Amino acid sequence: VAGNFTIPVIFNVVYASMNISDGYVPDSQVQAQIDVMNQDYNGTGLSFQLQNITRTLNATWFNNAAPNVDVQTDMKNALRQGDVKTLNIYTVGFTSSSALGLLGYSTFPADYAGDPMNDGVVILYSSLPGGSEASFNLGRTSTHEVGHWVGLYHPFQGGCDGPGDYVDDTPAEAIPAAGCPIGRDTCSSPGLDPVQNYMDYSNDACMNNFTPGQIARLQSQIQTYRGIQL
Ligand code: ARG
Ligand code: ZN
Ligand code: CA
Repeated sequence: VAGNFTIPVIFNVVYASMNISDGYVPDSQVQAQIDVMNQDYNGTGLSFQLQNITRTLNATWFNNAAPNVDVQTDMKNALRQGDVKTLNIYTVGFTSSSALGLLGYSTFPADYAGDPMNDGVVILYSSLPGGSEASFNLGRTSTHEVGHWVGLYHPFQGGCDGPGDYVDDTPAEAIPAAGCPIGRDTCSSPGLDPVQNYMDYSNDACMNNFTPGQIARLQSQIQTYRGIQL
């Protein structure tokens, strides 16, 4: 029987002014986010414990911390704490034109060795539980991004053919799901589209599971790349 591991979480709140609509989210929303992650990862062997909340006034980071830009590297270099087992989450606004519409993004476990300071999850502040992002304000953006952080891919990766997400019990899916299209079937291979899976693109309220195959993959990924033995 696999054991449990508690991941320490550093929650880095980046804001443009001390107003909630400029990213100054209250501690209560941060704790609610940790609670959602603990519910959604129940049964995976992982739990999450808030170790520290940092708060940083930086409008450049708040607006522009899109993937693969120097701004996000600068932000992480300044704020990241802890070791390979520590989860750093950054909340930002994604208001610049290049970042607009993003809910979040993450690094993968195998990336850590080559670029440790870049490790972590960046999410839209208003996606926290009770936030203002309609249909995406139950905290499942963090659940999804942490899924990447522990080594999971999207079930629609590669479409209907090939190895897909390297997980056998997530049926192949041609394209991401939007909304909650339960019963959708976009590939001729067996199984309906896994639209309620945390790693699809459905609305937060639609999502409710990781599969046993995903749990096995995430456990092996974090053992290999983060030294976490369950
Ligand atoms: N599109 C983002 C990604 O690929 C996040 C999707 C989050 N979905 C949600 N229902 N909160 O990482
Ligand atoms: Zn994703
Ligand atoms: Ca699959």
